[in-house]
Order: sequence, then structure tokens, then C-alpha cells
Amino acid sequence: MTSTIESSATVDLTAPTALDVRTLDPTMHRVVTGDRPTGPLHLGHYIGTLANRVRLQNLGVPVTVIIADYQVITDRAETGPLRNLVRTLIAEYLAAGIDPDRSTIFAHSCVPALGQLMLPFLSLVTDAELHRNPTVKAESLASRRSLSALLLTYPVHQAADILGLGGDLVPVGRDQLPHIELARVIARRFNDRYGQVFAEPQALLTSTPSVLGIDGAKMSKTRGNTILLGATADETAALIRSARTDSLRHITFDPQSRPQVANLLSIVGALSGRDPAVVAEQVGDGGAAALKTLAAEVINESLRELRHQREELLADPSYLDGVLLDGTSRAMAVAGDTLDQVRHAMGMDYLS
Ligand code: TRP
Repeated sequence: MTSTIESSATVDLTAPTALDVRTLDPTMHRVVTGDRPTGPLHLGHYIGTLANRVRLQNLGVPVTVIIADYQVITDRAETGPLRNLVRTLIAEYLAAGIDPDRSTIFAHSCVPALGQLMLPFLSLVTDAELHRNPTVKAESLASRRSLSALLLTYPVHQAADILGLGGDLVPVGRDQLPHIELARVIARRFNDRYGQVFAEPQALLTSTPSVLGIDGAKMSKTRGNTILLGATADETAALIRSARTDSLRHITFDPQSRPQVANLLSIVGALSGRDPAVVAEQVGDGGAAALKTLAAEVINESLRELRHQREELLADPSYLDGVLLDGTSRAMAVAGDTLDQVRHAMGMDYLS
């Protein structure tokens, strides 16, 4: 068994050699993605992965979205107001364009087969590999507690999600790449030992995978620097006005030396399908104030319909619960089938 993790196989949508999502055969792929239900979704989710999920779904690729509730307790003891959060996430997915008739949304804890897959998968990785995982390292530092075994095995958990549901394309932010890489390693090692069962999943990156928050650091729930999808237009404008920029008057797109200004330009670019450098030229001597006004307008305009739908959906929790029930039974069927194949490959199919 090799003990090194090889370089990441990534499909970067911006790279010229990238797999072209417009020409891929939708029937040949299955997208699996997920979110930890630690808070409502923000603009970083929307630009980084959510818009991409919807795009893939609309191309005809089956999309499965996991609400990774067990991942909440990787770095904290409290599960939080999960029932409400799960409903909120479902409302946000649907409002963003996830269609429950074509796509599957479910909560991890409802599908036991995914947990069971972890056991054989844990035998395929070493503790050294898990300790090397950059996300595990970073999260362990951020949580200021000693590493729980669930946090240490988080990438294995996630590999079970992806492989258990037959995912071969995983639209994620750049920070998730090491996890996808480990899922590939696990698939390969399982196939080598027990015979071909799993396809090696590929990560799908968007052109703006990581959006900065209003303080200039990466936008994330834990930092409290987010612009929530559910924020009002006024709240959004106020947050953008308070965003850190720099003291240079003339606006230019320079991600290296002007990250905060570049971030606002990238957000405008991503949401309006324009090149951020062109947006910069347009703002020019208008300075940070004009850039912020433009950014708030573009964000509010882009999210207007989503926000409206979100409110309507949240007013109907029984509908949201029905979507969850439906998604759960579909996920159970797929994951149960994978587990049967795994049992068969490992010679554990005594009962079938
Ligand atoms: N770890 C992911 C996150 O924090 C969420 C997640 C759970 C996920 N299972 C997944 C993402 C499977 C992609 C595929 O965002």
C-alpha cells in the first residue's frame, strides 16, 4: 500500500484544458456535494459552489446535496438548532434553483449505510495520512481543542459520502481539495484490494472559489464576516459599505497587492458574468465608494429572486420536510446499493 497522497486531480473550470461542463455527457456523471449545517448559507457558498450545482443540475447531471449534520460535531460539542437550520438550508437550495424533482437533498444522519461504509474505508488510510490533511490541521488549530477522532477521520467520512452515493464530480471550494484527493486514494485502494467498485471522483472548481468576507479574510461562518443569502438588501448594502478596502483612490484589479478591492470586483464579475478587470476600469476614479455601491447593487439584484423564494419556502416547513423525506429515501436506495456491492466485493454477502 502506498502511503503518500498523490497530487490532486482537479477539474478547474477556468483552465483551458478543463473538462468542459457544456460538452460532458450528463448521463455519465453524478454530482455529490454537501454543506455542514452550522449556519445559513452566504455569498461565498453561492458563488463558490451553489451556482455551479444548479448549473450542473440544469445540464441534466443528477445532483445530490448532503446536509452533513454529523460533520457539525467534528469541531464542537453542540449540534445547534439543527431542525431549523436543515429547513433553512433546504429552502436556500431550492430558492437558488435546486429542483427537488431532479436533485436529491438529504441529511447525513438519516442514511446509516454511509456511516457503515466508513469502517472498511478506515482500513485503507493511515493515521499519518490523516494527520497530514491540511483541512484537518487547520480545523484542529482553529477549534483550540485537542483533535477529536471524528475530526481526524473527517476526510474518510466525506469519502464515504461521495463514494457511497456514486459521486464522480464534486463541486467544492478550493479548501476541500485535500478531501477529494483522499476520496480518490480510498477508491483506488479499495478497487486494488477487492476489485473494481468505485469511480475516482474529481473536484470541480469555479473561477472564484474563495470569496473574502467584509474583513478581508476568507468568508466563513466562524469568522462572522459573511453576507448571508438571507440578509435584506439594506443589511447587504451596510455590510458592503463596512467592507475593508485600501487607501488607493483609483480602482484596479490586482488580487496580489489589493486583495480586498479585487474581492469586490470578483464578486461583481462572478455575479454579472463580467471580467473583474473590466469592472475595475469602469469604476476607475470612482474609488472604493463607487465600487461598494456597485457591488451592493449587483449582489442585491442577483439575490432578489432567491431571497423572495427563500421567504416563501420558509413559510411552508411541511413542504420542506417532504423534500427531505423524498431525498432521504433516494439516498438510502443508492447508498444501500453501494454497501451491497462493497459487501459482495469483500466476501461479506452472506445474506444475499
Ligand atoms: N465538508 C464539506 C464542507 O464543509 C461538506 C461535505 C460533507 C461535503 N460531505 C460532502 C462536500 C461530500 C462535498 C461532498 O463544506
